[in-house]
Amino acid sequence: MPLIDTLNRPLRDLRISVTDRCNFRCVYCMPKEIFGPDHQFLHRDQILTFEEITRLSRLFAAHGVQKIRLTGGEPLVRKDLPELISMLSTIPDLDLTLTTNGSLLPKHAQALKDAGLKRVTVSLDSLDNEIFKSMNDVDFPVEKVIEGMDAAAAAGLTPLKVNMVVKRGLNESSILPMARFFREKGYILRFIEYMDVGHTNGWRMDDVVPAAEIIQMINAEMPLEPTDPNYRGEVAGRWRYKDGKGEIGMIASVTQAFCRDCNRARISAEGKLYTCLFAVKGYDFRDMLRNGATDEQISRSIAQVWGQRGDRYSELRSENTTSLPKVEMSHIGG
Ligand code: GTP
Ligand code: 5AD
Ligand code: SF4
Ligand code: SF4
Repeated sequence: MPLIDTLNRPLRDLRISVTDRCNFRCVYCMPKEIFGPDHQFLHRDQILTFEEITRLSRLFAAHGVQKIRLTGGEPLVRKDLPELISMLSTIPDLDLTLTTNGSLLPKHAQALKDAGLKRVTVSLDSLDNEIFKSMNDVDFPVEKVIEGMDAAAAAGLTPLKVNMVVKRGLNESSILPMARFFREKGYILRFIEYMDVGHTNGWRMDDVVPAAEIIQMINAEMPLEPTDPNYRGEVAGRWRYKDGKGEIGMIASVTQAFCRDCNRARISAEGKLYTCLFAVKGYDFRDMLRNGATDEQISRSIAQVWGQRGDRYSELRSENTTSLPKVEMSHIGG
């Protein structure tokens, strides 16, 4: 029987953060002033082992989870990640995927594919090096990310999706060039409204470029029409080009909240279960995993947490909720 929360939403999608570390310092996620050289990241023994992640994943799959997405931080900075993919790929009927900044894909794409990864989503916020570097804040060039995408596509990690976070005044000018470029390439570009995740990025409503505005801008040059979701609860609204040449996605979690169909759970690198991207509190599963709990006990705890869930943060967002002490994006991977 699938688990149902208090708002009648099933549990279908599990996002697992495998590390809180990242080789980028995106201004909207890990601003340098806070994630500087003195920042205390988790120690090796604090993060879940591959065995622990796999055990939890099996128990979630038995509760109806159909998709597992590995996130970070940057998931590919975790050593030997293909090993974890191999372990997870033994779980039947699972859509196994990963969200990455792309920087390490040229090196790892083939090994990830061989281990059983199905597809990847790569983040890229601009094609303009000056803008992109000012956003990743570690001087990382656009060309290297595109090289990573191409390596993933060549290895068969498709359909390849590209995530672009849009922040007012920073990369709006990159919207059209990105749309044109990825339409030609055949990768699915998705625009993400800048969100108030965590409490370190200094989010303001004025920084959000509404999805409707982005659609209007693209539609004026390359006509678009809405199309049906691939599955219930899909985060991105789909739009296809009227000439039949590809599609884009809109992740409008600020201006058009989609909590009503939210079927996602998140596990942080240290084994806490969060029932919302904007949660204030997580439920510790590492302790159970390390203190001899049986599968039945862990399974019951998962059911209990999901059964109590009533989160719908994006539907309730206000100036007040923005200042709540929420979990950081780099801890639960978006
Ligand atoms: P597929 O539909 O399987 O391709 O993946 P996805 O869109 O769920 O995964 P992806 O990691 O690419 O998610 C895109 C971004 O959407 C995330 O990084 C978040 O920024 C945002 N997002 C995903 N899930 C949620 C959610 O439940 N709530 C909110 N507010 N934002 C979300
Ligand atoms: N708002 C919107 N998207 C964000 N991401 C990271 N921080 C934010 C934010 N504050 C995106 C990343 C990546 C995905 C995991 O989440 O760029 O594509
Ligand atoms: Fe790293 Fe992704 Fe956060 Fe950028 S958005 S700092 S790439 S985890
Ligand atoms: Fe789900 Fe929370 Fe995002 Fe709403 S705000 S869609 S409940 S993760």
